[in-house]
Amino acid sequence: MTRANDQTRGALGTAKARLLAAMSATKGLDKIESLIEAKLVSDAELLREIPRYLLTLGGKRMRPVLSLMMARALGQTTPTPALLDVAAGIELIHMATLLHDDIIDRSPLRRHQASPFVKYGLESTLLSGDFLLVRAFSLCARLDSFVIDSTEQACIELTEGEILEVPLDRGEHTIESSITIARKKTASLFWLATRTAAHLSGASPEIVEQCSRFGEKLGIAFQILDDILDVVASEDLLGKKSGIDIREKKPSLVNVLWVRSGSARAKALLSPAPISDDFVAESVTELRSSPVVHEARAMALRYTAEATAALDTIETKAPNVDRASVEHLRTLIEYTLERME
Ligand code: IPE
Ligand code: IPE
Ligand code: MG
Ligand code: MG
Repeated sequence: MTRANDQTRGALGTAKARLLAAMSATKGLDKIESLIEAKLVSDAELLREIPRYLLTLGGKRMRPVLSLMMARALGQTTPTPALLDVAAGIELIHMATLLHDDIIDRSPLRRHQASPFVKYGLESTLLSGDFLLVRAFSLCARLDSFVIDSTEQACIELTEGEILEVPLDRGEHTIESSITIARKKTASLFWLATRTAAHLSGASPEIVEQCSRFGEKLGIAFQILDDILDVVASEDLLGKKSGIDIREKKPSLVNVLWVRSGSARAKALLSPAPISDDFVAESVTELRSSPVVHEARAMALRYTAEATAALDTIETKAPNVDRASVEHLRTLIEYTLERME
């Protein structure tokens, strides 16, 4: 390991440690966990077991954390029942997308264990995802039309994002289309978390828009990092199989930039021939020392800079801002760029 890597590792520990400290100062996460668990009831055993399996495997709870931190930053000292319901609903939607996404991506690992798709099979996992979506709607649809409409919009966008993610050998992709997919499939729930938190905190339309913008830009950066981690992270840290985006010829930002770079190996992503495990391993080795990863990281930085600009506006213009919580949101931005899991 090089000195540069050692230094990066030191910084990583710091961002994560500071995020964990910020999370422990964030009120309401335990309540959200209970709300989620309370929704995992069904007469059908598998509809209880599969979501519970996914829930107990862990996960970062990024989206509820974002909701709670944003509401607190806007002066809500204690999370309201409405905010807790939406935040729990968003995590349930996220869980549903993970169940469906692993079927689509044929992913063997999720949160360090066998993916629900591999453990329980396609049919039951698919239906469990549908079940979670309906349970989530029962939480979000209790609230006002702003929350209902925003939830609908986010869910439509994430479905569009997943369906637009046609493999590189079957569809035309550009940097722009790759970012659109990231925005739709991933940033939509970050957008929803910050937007509904602002609305439920009684923020003005201008502040609601800035909060939505913050969530969206952070979400795009989060997905770009996920694409980078697919090739640079160790499977042990990531808890997911690496190189899936290569094997599945996904239009991830890294893959699109790799094809554009003119790499001879990257041409295989454009051909219909299946990708072997050896090819994935060789590709990962090539990409780890290629400028492509730096290029992708530079793009992620541009999105986090936009998220930071939105947060600066919120801090300046929103009344009753809690500066400590704004700092927590800044830590979330840093963690997004530095995370290894
Ligand atoms: C994984 O999301 C799917 C993406 C949008 C990249 P997370 O990285 O938030 O997954 P968990 O919830 O922590 O497992
Ligand atoms: C995540 O995309 C999008 C979702 C809506 C779940 P990925 O396919 O890159 O997520 P991982 O890498 O499987 O977690
Ligand atoms: Mg996937
Ligand atoms: Mg991924």
